[in-house]
Amino acid sequence: MCGIIGIVGTKPVTERLIDSLKRLEYRGYDSAGVAAVVDGKVERRRAQGKIKNLEAVLVEQPLVAQNGIGHVRWATHGAPNVGNAHPHTAGRVTLVHNGIIENFAELKAELKAAGRAFESDTDTEVIAHLVDAELATGLAPLDAFKATLDRLTGAYALAVLIEGADNLILGARRGSPLVVGEGQGEMFLGSDALAVGPFTNRVIYLEEGDFVALDHDGAQIFDVTGASVQRPVKVVPASAVMMEKGNYRHFMEKEIHDQPEGCQRTIAAYVDALTARTAMPGGLDFKALERIQIVACGTSYIAGVIGKYLIEQLADLPVDVEIASEFRYRQPALRPGSLVIAMSQSGETADTLAALRYCKAKGMKSAVVVNAQESTMAREVDVVWPIHCGPEIGVASTKAFTAQVSVMIALAVAAAKARGTIDAAEEQRLVRVMLEAPRLIAEAIGLEDSLKEIAAEIAKARDVLYLGRGPMSALALEGALKLKEISYIHAEGYAAGELKHGPIALVDDQTPIIILAPYDSWFEKSASNMSEVMARGGQVVFVTDPQGAKHAPAGARVVVTAPASDPLVSALVMSAPIQLLAYHVAVLKGADVDQPRNLAKSVTVE
Ligand code: AGP
Repeated sequence: MCGIIGIVGTKPVTERLIDSLKRLEYRGYDSAGVAAVVDGKVERRRAQGKIKNLEAVLVEQPLVAQNGIGHVRWATHGAPNVGNAHPHTAGRVTLVHNGIIENFAELKAELKAAGRAFESDTDTEVIAHLVDAELATGLAPLDAFKATLDRLTGAYALAVLIEGADNLILGARRGSPLVVGEGQGEMFLGSDALAVGPFTNRVIYLEEGDFVALDHDGAQIFDVTGASVQRPVKVVPASAVMMEKGNYRHFMEKEIHDQPEGCQRTIAAYVDALTARTAMPGGLDFKALERIQIVACGTSYIAGVIGKYLIEQLADLPVDVEIASEFRYRQPALRPGSLVIAMSQSGETADTLAALRYCKAKGMKSAVVVNAQESTMAREVDVVWPIHCGPEIGVASTKAFTAQVSVMIALAVAAAKARGTIDAAEEQRLVRVMLEAPRLIAEAIGLEDSLKEIAAEIAKARDVLYLGRGPMSALALEGALKLKEISYIHAEGYAAGELKHGPIALVDDQTPIIILAPYDSWFEKSASNMSEVMARGGQVVFVTDPQGAKHAPAGARVVVTAPASDPLVSALVMSAPIQLLAYHVAVLKGADVDQPRNLAKSVTVE
């Protein structure tokens, strides 16, 4: 959840470190810091909170240097204060770290016993002391670094400066992503391609266990055994334009509005528009498949639940969806004839990665629905199903969510055709429904002004309930998650049929109830639930479509009429209203929409 950058070159480095850290700020913003080699000495500048606080420090105490490292932090060990801010220094060693060192306590005790003093509560500082201690035995920097890596248990992506080795940055990765960027007379190290994006589009994705020595002429890469290896250089798309906010106030607003295009590009990758047939990459035999196990976290988990409804309904194929952090520790009964699908925007979420690896160890075929196509998960599965929505910077997932759902829809139709539960004509009809979805999403986004008005009411609420049935019960979870993670208003998503089993006790005339109910096979039941809550004073926001608006019981506080859509794609069309509602509530409350408190975009620690 932290972001790291390193630059070794011959140009002024500080501005560029800051530029890169700003692109990494979505990974964590509890503190920020840089270190650079100034006249042979390593100097640090650190600040609590956002990068702008670090910039203020640099105005007071400039760093004029050509080689340096930088870090944005999401606190794991130690409070988010300056003392725990990276970079951390011990003797000649200054470094930044993303990950968690699981054996840091015993290492720290050993180092303290050897007389070393610590200035922070972090696990990271232990690494700096270890490298410094190895240097003190006379080892060269690279050997001291390798000896240290061999002692660490846990996850790390590291960038290291060594005093006296001015034209050198050391790096290593295990369990956290790290890339090398190739420049002209300069080299870069970063958490992902976005970090080095301002400087180069030539990227080397380090493998698990790799470590590297960079100078401004190039990189020496070594694998976990210490053997020198070559890793391929990839030219990554110039995603800089996708990263700017354009004329939107927030990345989240832009990304909500980017959804028609993101879903269109994603759907196009899974269908043949000319023949109106599905075209799922990966060559899986859905006919022989006995079961699908989906593992994911957060919004990606919710996309998986929507997938379950569609795949089981259409393809009569059993699907289980589980929260990865529970799944990985409960010894689930798995069978080799199943397929595990990891759902992950980042492809780096620690719990999802561990759950995926658990399934692979049980002999299951593996796939990932992922945005970051060079991520750890993407490199470990048998089949990669990319979403093509471009980099998602807002911490609250929107365009990645609907792109993930788009892949689930394509998978449901493809599996149904392969298993013979639908015929060619039905497949073609459903593919045409998919191709039409982006236009309907755009129409739903057109409801923004009315949603802004509703947001003014919701912003006053203490608690909000989201209800739905079928795939809309999953979307109710997503609506609640969006609202609480960016506006900090408590919200719960519930299967509407569960209302009578407890949650209805929450309903009073102060509680907004958002009911998601397109005119589908569940509509009548949802309409009954709507009457039940209104009878108790509940203030209902009824999100439906034209037919639903016509048949809705009277008395809703407001009815939001999304475009009519086939049940296959209604989750795509109904997503925009709940996303826009959450977004405008958060804006009204003055919340930090793109970087909500306590969150990070990619949870790469347990
Ligand atoms: C979504 O709005 C959240 N930011 C969060 O739940 C996210 O979906 C979750 O952390 C999973 O991330 P991933 O898709 O990168 O694995």
